[in-house]
Amino acid sequence: MHATARYSRAQRALHWISLLLVVLAYLSIEFRGEFERGSALRAAVVQTHFWAGLLVWLLVWPRLWLRAKLGVPPITPAPGRLTALGASAVHVALYAFLLAQPLLGLVTAAADGKELLIPFTSIALPIQALGGLADVETLEELHETVGNVFYFVIGLHAVAAILHHALRGDDTLRRML
Ligand code: HEM
Ligand code: HEM
Repeated sequence: MHATARYSRAQRALHWISLLLVVLAYLSIEFRGEFERGSALRAAVVQTHFWAGLLVWLLVWPRLWLRAKLGVPPITPAPGRLTALGASAVHVALYAFLLAQPLLGLVTAAADGKELLIPFTSIALPIQALGGLADVETLEELHETVGNVFYFVIGLHAVAAILHHALRGDDTLRRML
């Protein structure tokens, strides 16, 4: 047995907190239809979508900083060249998603005349200025499509991690636990 070189405690915490926030962002928007249009509860669910997404965006920066500073712990036994390349491509896509999707959402919300409220207050942040960047329908469609595409990319990433563990028996997943 070798000792598993894990991601730092902060990197692991940020990875799993971000996962929970992404799940919350998806759940809140997918199930908003369960709440009556115009109700306070529905408004709160939509605000939850906004803030979960924005928090994800904020957390990407410390993640990228830690990665630049600490690097990536080696996988034992080391995967092949092609596997490593594929994994890197998916990680780049995931980071791009975490950076772009919340901003796209913010611009969409602004174009749609939606308010972004400071949590637990009725104070709206001045996001209207972002509303003129593109037409609402285009933005909504793009934001939704990116959201749907990343169900698959995130699924691929998760399945790969589990297959590494279960079939290949390497420490890819243990490094993140
Ligand atoms: C990880 C971040 C995010 C993910 C995964 C995500 C995903 C999604 C998805 C899948 C939809 C389409 C739901 C549907 O109609 O079927 C949606 C809608 C929407 N999102 Fe996001 N979103 C994120 C962040 C944000 C942020 C930060 C904001 C605003 C501050 C935002 C604003 C919106 C708005 C306004 C809609 C509704 C568009 C409409 O009414 O059709 N999103 N989001
Ligand atoms: C919203 C969902 C997720 C997102 C956005 C996400 C994002 C990421 C990103 C960006 C990295 C790269 C870390 C680096 O810089 O090296 C990563 C690594 C990793 N993730 Fe996720 N992840 C998600 C869900 C999951 C799930 C569900 C699992 C496990 C079942 C998982 C397991 C891992 C593992 C094992 C690594 C390390 C991979 C390696 O170093 O080769 N992730 N994740």
